[in-house]
Amino acid sequence: MTRLETSVNARPAMRAQTAADRFGVLERPELTYTPAVARETAHLYERVRHHIPEIEWPVYAPYVHAINRLKKERGAAILAHNYQTPEIFHCIADIAGDSLQLAREATLVDEQIIIQCGVHFMAETSKLLNMDKTVLIPDVKAGCSLSDSITGADVRLLKERYPGVPVVTYVNTSAEVKAETDVCCTSSNAVAICESFESDTILCIPDEYLAMNVAKQTKKKILTWKGHCEVHERFTAEELLAYKEADPTIEIIGHPECHPDVIAVCDYSGSTAGMINYVKDRRPPRVLLVTECSMASNIESEVEGVEFVKPCNLCPHMKRITLPKILDSLLFMTEEVLIDPAIADRARLAVERMVNMKN
Ligand code: 13P
Ligand code: SF4
Repeated sequence: MTRLETSVNARPAMRAQTAADRFGVLERPELTYTPAVARETAHLYERVRHHIPEIEWPVYAPYVHAINRLKKERGAAILAHNYQTPEIFHCIADIAGDSLQLAREATLVDEQIIIQCGVHFMAETSKLLNMDKTVLIPDVKAGCSLSDSITGADVRLLKERYPGVPVVTYVNTSAEVKAETDVCCTSSNAVAICESFESDTILCIPDEYLAMNVAKQTKKKILTWKGHCEVHERFTAEELLAYKEADPTIEIIGHPECHPDVIAVCDYSGSTAGMINYVKDRRPPRVLLVTECSMASNIESEVEGVEFVKPCNLCPHMKRITLPKILDSLLFMTEEVLIDPAIADRARLAVERMVNMKN
């Protein structure tokens, strides 16, 4: 067959339907701070007034108002991670939580559309658990240094090198990596999941510091990878000790993605949800959260009488998600998260095994 024959006879390739094709696009609403918008968002402002000055609320309120109206019109649920900014966390999220809570909640939402306010691996996790639903992420470039640290090919090489050793992978990884995994974990269940295997050696990847922190809490031999969270790796034990020296009553609570030397000087360590619960239950007069900046801002309004000391570090990936981009997601049905079904089938097993574990 000649080249000419091929091009004349070939049918034009069918373009896959996009979410915009399936659901249609909507017209951009007026974004004006009218008396009606002020009235209907007043209760939401009360949740963020410690963080957003009153003079700035007229900029936020029209977005909050439009997003809350359009998500109902579209039949969409907004899932937000604890590191999202207060106006997202308190004013538009239907569900907010740590990585494990979001994965669990993703299996329970009734809506056909999920808008993931978090980073890309979180949106992929929601999609894996809801292949029949439309999952959108307002900025597809919202990545993660841990997720970027390892590929599926890396995991295949590790398995060749350590045959038979169970692979426990942090959820902060791509679907391609999860597909090579026995079971996923988050910072709140990593120890329990590693302990659930009979093997006395476990590959706990790709977060080196999380794995080192797990190793301190189990007798198993923990092998790992050199991935780090670019936010938590910046904290040092020296800076925290300086705070303790200045005020010995301060309570320091840290995320297990920090180096073990940092965790060693913390009064408590746990996932973002664990940290929030600690502060809510114990109400320490002064507390320092060794984690992403928005955490303290998000819980400040819910714990009267607790003073937050904030040497926080910002996650540039989480901060890509903004109200204007969330509004665009709802209007134009972007960016849709799609996963190759062959990868998804294997990756889902690893996530489901974690979600179904009782811890
Ligand atoms: P958790 O909310 O599960 O503690 O995860 C923290 C984190 O860094 C997510 O990217
Ligand atoms: Fe990734 Fe760290 Fe940002 Fe979480 S805080 S998304 S682990 S870079």
